[in-house]
Amino acid sequence: MKASLIFSRSFPVGDVDPRLYGSFIEHLGRAVYGGIYEPGHPASDDRGFRRDVLELVRKLGVPIVRYPGGNFVSGYKWEDGTGPKELRPRRPELAWRTVETNQVGIDEFQEWAKRAGTEIMMAVNLGTRGPEEARALVEYCNFKGGTYESDRRIQNGFREPFGVKTWCLGNEMDGPWQMGAKTADEYGRIACETAKMMKWVDPSIELVACGSSNSSMPTFGKWESTVLGHTYDHVDYLSLHSYYGNRSGNTPDFLACSLDMDQFIRSVIATADYVKALKRSKKTMMLSFDEWNVWFHSNDADKKIEPWSIAPPQLEDVYTFEDALVVGCLLITLLRHADRVKIACLAQLVNVIAPIMTETGGRAWAQTIFYPFMDASRYGRGRVLAPALACPVYESSYGDAPYVETVGVWNAEKEELAVFAVNRSLTEDVELSLDLRDFPGLQPKSYHILTAGGMKVTNTADEPWNVLPMILPLPAFGGGKAAPVLPPHSWNVLVFGKK
Ligand code: AHR
Repeated sequence: MKASLIFSRSFPVGDVDPRLYGSFIEHLGRAVYGGIYEPGHPASDDRGFRRDVLELVRKLGVPIVRYPGGNFVSGYKWEDGTGPKELRPRRPELAWRTVETNQVGIDEFQEWAKRAGTEIMMAVNLGTRGPEEARALVEYCNFKGGTYESDRRIQNGFREPFGVKTWCLGNEMDGPWQMGAKTADEYGRIACETAKMMKWVDPSIELVACGSSNSSMPTFGKWESTVLGHTYDHVDYLSLHSYYGNRSGNTPDFLACSLDMDQFIRSVIATADYVKALKRSKKTMMLSFDEWNVWFHSNDADKKIEPWSIAPPQLEDVYTFEDALVVGCLLITLLRHADRVKIACLAQLVNVIAPIMTETGGRAWAQTIFYPFMDASRYGRGRVLAPALACPVYESSYGDAPYVETVGVWNAEKEELAVFAVNRSLTEDVELSLDLRDFPGLQPKSYHILTAGGMKVTNTADEPWNVLPMILPLPAFGGGKAAPVLPPHSWNVLVFGKK
């Protein structure tokens, strides 16, 4: 099949905020205990952090990590995770029905974040707690000293403030499964008052208000407009969450699910701009897609988990190659909205619906979805260019899906153009006629591709190499045109630059 694609510097979408490549660590399953933290493991460092995991996180290039939840945060007492470890309480954790030992809290996580080369996106509990506890946490993290909470931090061994810049005002507060779930008016009011107090402690922070838990919630749309009605002037971002799965075993349809993400983003932008108009505001609300991924493989196994155990293996999806292609399409979709989606978090990072897996006491490896994320994070920095694409489509439950999903990112500093493209066809090559006349002097530099012998291939501890990126010969180039052939079911990154 043939497709043609033009990129021009004259048609930018917007600049990529590096936080688009964020991720998420929740106190859930083996994300923290047995994931990032395992004292006594042969690879653990002086603080008990697994160095093998840190190395993979750094390879992924994650600039921000949301913490500590998720549903977990809605019952969390953050003070439990500060101070001497031997004094920390064990508590029943109601979101995931486990026991939380509190051996890791903000004191440890900020140290882990430094070692991982990432920032923290901190969530506060607006389920069972409120503005005062959130304000106190900002004081603990960001106040210089000379006050109760900042002095407690200093006593705990941290003279310098943690400097947490990005904060979430609760998590999925519209969900009946959430501790302390709220109506849109209840949440909007408490989020507004919490936002004011948090910013009074540290005016430099940025705040994310909760949007709907997903676009299928019965209150979706109304929730966004009501919450923003209360919070518009006090927050900087509105959140979106979405997970996808191939429950019906229909691969072409599953590969088209990024169309749903695209529509979801468009609807939230429209709703936010409606509130902007009502308020006659000059400010444009940005979006934080702070939970997204494939999540369905582990659903049945999770029903069998013994309640009140410590760090059981929960939400441990083993990802297939087709999941990696979906993650690639979702990344391209996020990039195509880079003008409004400024933050996004792949949920999650280690063991729990994650690109990185570990054995407790054993090995660590990269799942299939690790690779498109790594490529996007590495080459997708700069200014997003809108694709002018002509390409055949196929019918899906999300509407007509183009066989090629694509976006371009121009990195002015490096004078490099990265073209990301997924070929959704399971059987056919796509001969792509790529017109780059607007980039004189650019030549093909490298061509990275991810493909596999079958859609259900996985990477495991014993066979972590089943799905690995390859470098292919550079496509033919002349007269400002390249003609790469995208193999069936493939993730492709073509990098053009000055030789
Ligand atoms: O990421 C797993 C869970 O999914 C999070 O705790 C919650 O916010 C969402 O429903």
